[in-house]
Amino acid sequence: MKPINIGLLGIGTVGSGTFAVLKRNREEIARRAGREIVIKIIADRDLEKARCLAGDGIVVTDNVYEVIEHPDIDIVVELIGGLTIARELILKAIAQGKHVVTANKALLASYGTEIFAAAHEKGVMVAFEAAVAGGIPIIKALREGLTANRLEWIAGIINGTANFILSEMREKGLPFETVLDQAKQLGYAEADPAYDIEGIDAAHKITIMAAIAFGIPVQFDKAYIEGITKLTREDIRYAEELGYRIKLLGITKRVSSGIELRVHPTLIPVRRLIANVEGVMNAIVVKGDAVGTTLYYGAGAGAEPTASSVIADLVDVTRMHTADPMHRVPSLSFQPDLLSDTPVISMD
Ligand code: HSE
Repeated sequence: MKPINIGLLGIGTVGSGTFAVLKRNREEIARRAGREIVIKIIADRDLEKARCLAGDGIVVTDNVYEVIEHPDIDIVVELIGGLTIARELILKAIAQGKHVVTANKALLASYGTEIFAAAHEKGVMVAFEAAVAGGIPIIKALREGLTANRLEWIAGIINGTANFILSEMREKGLPFETVLDQAKQLGYAEADPAYDIEGIDAAHKITIMAAIAFGIPVQFDKAYIEGITKLTREDIRYAEELGYRIKLLGITKRVSSGIELRVHPTLIPVRRLIANVEGVMNAIVVKGDAVGTTLYYGAGAGAEPTASSVIADLVDVTRMHTADPMHRVPSLSFQPDLLSDTPVISMD
């Protein structure tokens, strides 16, 4: 079968990670998707960097519209972020009949309803696993794994930068600003790190999860948001002395009057698993009426963890786009691939 062609908008931290993982795991990914996934064109302001990464055979441009309008592109991967041009580009890509994979939580939390409606009308997919909790497949869990449940609440550490700052302040006694600088250097922080430390990024993510969990429109403007900027090392130390950790949590839950959406620092008893989630790791607890409480844990930011989610979406979209029904329903299409000629080792 001929490859599926993708156009990549943005070759920053996540774009570079996506490029690297797609290249490294090309064969496995192709087997799982049912056909090869090929980057055909990359758009980025930094042409030098894009050329260096792309090598031969991939078109490199600084004109984002060239990607959207490229006749051979089946899926546009939007990794530019932000609210301005990304919205226009995604709507244009949809209008051109292209599927979209995006990590843009800010955009989806504010304009998701418009974007999903446009995609529905055009019969294309907009996939966004990478928008929430980096490498944790939480969108898939909410949408597929927990689909039998009436979900009651979700609470999670969903900003890696904020959690990294709180962890390093507590463990190493480092000042807030020093750790924030480290988070920027490690590629965890948003282009505007105020989004991380003021709780805005976490609010984007909890808004998106609430929409999926409760079937409501995305309503970022309804979220209560309080970040970690007012916390001091003393606050963290006093909490510790009392047997608590301070974590920035995103919380959404059903209450009698509707759905709550909030982000704020929270005291959590140290004996709780989630209190011990440190560094850039994220953890999300979901309560469903049938399953009870479930916990999802993993890297919440960074190049390759986030790329893992971007590529999972690429594989899903490729399967759904492909006529072969065996590849259409991701959770029902398991076929032995990589492990088929590897022996199972007896553990006794
Ligand atoms: N700045 C975000 C974070 C990146 O630190 O969690 C991943 O969404």
